[in-house]
Amino acid sequence: MQTGVGQSHAKIILIGEHAVVYGQPAIALPIFAVQARVTVTLEPALQTPQIKSTYYNGPLEQAVGQMQGIRRLIEQLWHALDPNLTPFELTIESDLPPERGMGSSAATAVAIIRALFATYHQELSQQRLLKLAALSENLIHGNPSGIDAATTGATTPLWFVKGQPLQPLPINLKGYLVIADSGQKGQTGAAVKSVQNQMMSNPEQTQPLIDHLGYLTQQVARNIAQNELTVLGANLNRAQLDLRALGVSNARVDHLIDVANQTGSLGTKLTGGGRGGCIIALAATQSAADDLAQALSAAGAIKTWIQPLHAL
Ligand code: MEV
Repeated sequence: MQTGVGQSHAKIILIGEHAVVYGQPAIALPIFAVQARVTVTLEPALQTPQIKSTYYNGPLEQAVGQMQGIRRLIEQLWHALDPNLTPFELTIESDLPPERGMGSSAATAVAIIRALFATYHQELSQQRLLKLAALSENLIHGNPSGIDAATTGATTPLWFVKGQPLQPLPINLKGYLVIADSGQKGQTGAAVKSVQNQMMSNPEQTQPLIDHLGYLTQQVARNIAQNELTVLGANLNRAQLDLRALGVSNARVDHLIDVANQTGSLGTKLTGGGRGGCIIALAATQSAADDLAQALSAAGAIKTWIQPLHAL
């Protein structure tokens, strides 16, 4: 057994989260900004398989709780790829804050799968990668659309529709996205479940919100194609109103969004599952993005990233 390395990166959803679970399109962006990567290294070990990470250090077989999905994934791949079941040490190094809507769990799964396939010199198609990532994502998030795994393993922005082939979405806009971490753990699983409950108990109010998010996503794709940054921002604001009406925003997220809007953001919304996690704010210039990042930090965001849209 040789050493194998797998990498992945953060993702953010520009627009369409939650609605994507119900078959509407979403637009998701791989984030290549520095300090938004996951690296997994697999090395031979002497005795039993071990995991080394910030959240868990110890034997694979004792990894429980939040690590359950990851454990299941590693065990399955190890048994499938290594007939000799050679013990290993699997090290996870992640810059991504967990449970903040940046795809940390999916990015970890993608990097693990890539590291194992690299170690055993096996071909890995995109389709196989996504199917395998769904193994741990389903355990962690319930019934995810698959958008997180698709984007943390992608090299281009994506137009994503659940169950359909991935479509790259070129973005040639001049603009900047400021991503701000509220410091509060998001609750993707719980938020998805609560939308599902509303869909069952109150479809008359819930379905139009989902449909409108789908409509806004179509509009944003048009804004991207036609280089309409200001209109795009207004559509992000409209999406946030729908997400708030769906009950997946919260006071802390709303506060950061208000601060960004008062600091000149062209459009601001939560990203990912919501109820905490990260927000995104749109700026036309680097200096406007710097101002937004500064204001959001002063308002309590624990970390900010600036991603130029033209560098995606
Ligand atoms: C989570 O990043 C995005 C959600 O739409 C859930 C999903 O698509 O699986 C909230």
